[in-house]
Amino acid sequence: MYNDLGHIDPHAAAGAPAITPAGKAAYWMPFTANRQFKEAPRLVSGADGMFFRTPDGREVLDSIAGLWCVNAGHNRPRIVEAIQRQAAELDFAPPFNMGHPKAFELAERLVQLTPPGLDKVFFANSGSEAVESALKIALAYHRARGEGTRTRLIGRERGYHGVNFGGISVGGMVGNRKVFGAMVAGVDHLRHTHDPARNAYSVGQPAHGAELADDLERLVALHDASTIAAVIVEPVAGSTGVLVPPQGYLQRLREICDRHGILLIFDEVITGFGRLGAPFAATRFGVTPDLMTCAKGITNGCVPMGAVFARDAIYEAFMTGPEHLIEFPHGYTYSGHPLACAAALGTLDTYAEEDLLTRGSRLEPMFAQAVHSLRGLPHVIDIRNLGFVGGIELEPRPGEPGKRAFSVFLDCWEQGVLIRTTGDTIALSPPLIIEEAQLQRVIDTVAAAIRRVA
Ligand SMILES: Cc1ncc(COP(=O)(O)O)c(C=O)c1O
Repeated sequence: MYNDLGHIDPHAAAGAPAITPAGKAAYWMPFTANRQFKEAPRLVSGADGMFFRTPDGREVLDSIAGLWCVNAGHNRPRIVEAIQRQAAELDFAPPFNMGHPKAFELAERLVQLTPPGLDKVFFANSGSEAVESALKIALAYHRARGEGTRTRLIGRERGYHGVNFGGISVGGMVGNRKVFGAMVAGVDHLRHTHDPARNAYSVGQPAHGAELADDLERLVALHDASTIAAVIVEPVAGSTGVLVPPQGYLQRLREICDRHGILLIFDEVITGFGRLGAPFAATRFGVTPDLMTCAKGITNGCVPMGAVFARDAIYEAFMTGPEHLIEFPHGYTYSGHPLACAAALGTLDTYAEEDLLTRGSRLEPMFAQAVHSLRGLPHVIDIRNLGFVGGIELEPRPGEPGKRAFSVFLDCWEQGVLIRTTGDTIALSPPLIIEEAQLQRVIDTVAAAIRRVA
């Protein structure tokens, strides 16, 4: 299991014992069909570059960057070494009223990647925590400037903003909301932008639907702008099936927010760090939000970390009152954790050295052509793409929503390709290092699975 240097040898994982019945019984798995999984567990025990390895020695091509996060591919030396060095040097530093140099170094490096104006960063440990932090910053910001009546938060149908109470309240996935009671009060939702009747098989941004941003005017008319603190949207909705914003939609949302003094929050947990061929979706779309969340790709998925970027003016609004007092009563024991900061710095180096944050824009035509080649297969009803994200929507089986796509997922796994499905949409979001032949293998495997599963 351990090599000469005392490190875990990933190759020794092949043939390693699988899980025990007691382990299977004990582990309550997140967002998993536990009983189905435990009947025939799908395990990975090692990874390198574009591939996972299973305990029985199979290589599985990763077409979803783990879970939209391993943007530079697996087991990258700079990141691994940075984490190992950091663990031996400083394991933990209290983040409240104390600091450690790497958190400041990382903040400086990160704000060089954000659109001009988003120059402050607040650290959390996941996308969900970044979202909660952003919502709280928005509420406290208005109060700090004497507009404490702005307490309403606006999300969007089919939005996903993590699993904490603020996130599911502004989120728009019924399955994640319906079993958790009343949630956060004073939340409303914009209509979603998915319009297959007009936009099916759009390559890149769909042509129709910019006017759906005007839904915010409807909510302003209903609630009055003086009660609304912020609007939060994913620039491209990932978890509800790769919903690409119509041309002009985000620009229009920005204009309406400006008109009414409402903060615009982009949740870039998926779209950040090169996924759309630019450092952030905000860069790609030329729309700068007031607050922007990220996670996942910030550390290449290696150590949990999330962050919120804020405009200078938002930060400055808090910097009043007695100087010895805490300006924003919020933060986590592990905010800016040394291991996460080291991993993030190693990640940013890797992205820079290999030009990964813009590789998706150069390869987007190839990626688009590949995913759209699945058009015409049985039960395929729409295909969507932007940057290195593709969605292939299947017609649901009558009375069994999600099952057709899940069967495709299982088939692909058997054939050595990891895909992700959400509802009946197959989502592809490979590491940004993917080569054309590997992408073709993903497409061929998905095509064969769709035909077999039909
Ligand atoms: C847009 C968005 N926001 C928030 C989250 C939650 O992130 P985490 O699972 O790290 O809490 C996700 C996760 O997929 C996401 O896609």
